[in-house]
Amino acid sequence: MGVLEVIEARKSTRGFTAVPVPEDKLGAILKAGGEAPVGLGKYDAIHFTVIQNPGLIAAISDAATKGTEREGLDIYYGAGTVIVVSSAAQPAPGLEYSNAGAITQNFLLAATELGIDNVYIFGTVSGFANAPELLQKAGIPDGFKPVASVALGYAEDAAARVAKVPRSVAVNRVG
Ligand SMILES: Cc1cc2nc3c(=O)[nH]c(=O)nc-3n(C[C@H](O)[C@H](O)[C@H](O)COP(=O)(O)O)c2cc1C
Repeated sequence: MGVLEVIEARKSTRGFTAVPVPEDKLGAILKAGGEAPVGLGKYDAIHFTVIQNPGLIAAISDAATKGTEREGLDIYYGAGTVIVVSSAAQPAPGLEYSNAGAITQNFLLAATELGIDNVYIFGTVSGFANAPELLQKAGIPDGFKPVASVALGYAEDAAARVAKVPRSVAVNRVG
C-alpha cells in the first residue's frame, strides 16, 4: 500500500487473539517508531519498551483502571504485545506527548501495512507512571515516564477491528 492508503486503512482494534506478533514485523514496527520526528531531535530522551508478559500487561492495565469506573477491564483488549513509549523530562511543556503522538502514529501505520492489528492506548499512562514497582518490572529507565502505548496483535474477529469513526475535522483556510 502507499502511505495514503495505509493512513486510510488504519483503524483501532479492541479485541485480540493470543497469536503473537512475528519478530520480524515487531522489529519493523519498532524501527518505524524510531524514524518518527521528535522535538529538538532529542532521540536519547525517548525509550521504547516491548512487553509480552501477560502478567505484567495485566498489572499495568489494573494500575491504569484502579479506582475508576473501568476498574478490572483490560485496557489492552487481550493483546499479547504492548509497546510503551517513555520520555525523559523535556524542555518545553507537552513536548513528550507531541513526540509520543508522532511516534505512535508511525507504529500504527507500520503495523497496518504489515497486517498487524493495533490500537493507541493512552489510558495506561498515569496509573503506570505512578507505580514504581511496575516501572521497575518493565525496565523503564530511571528518569523516564510512560507517555503512550500501543497494543498489537490479531483481531479476534471482524467486529473487533472497529468500523472507522466518521471523520468530521473542521478546516478553515485563510488567504
Ligand atoms: C492520543 C490517543 C489516545 C487514545 N487512547 C485510547 C485508549 O486509551 N483506549 C482506546 O481504546 N482507544 C484509544 N485511542 C483510539 C481512538 O479512540 C481512536 O483512534 C479514534 O476513536 C478513531 O478511531 P479509529 O482509530 O478506528 O480510526 C486513542 C487515540 C489517540 C490518538
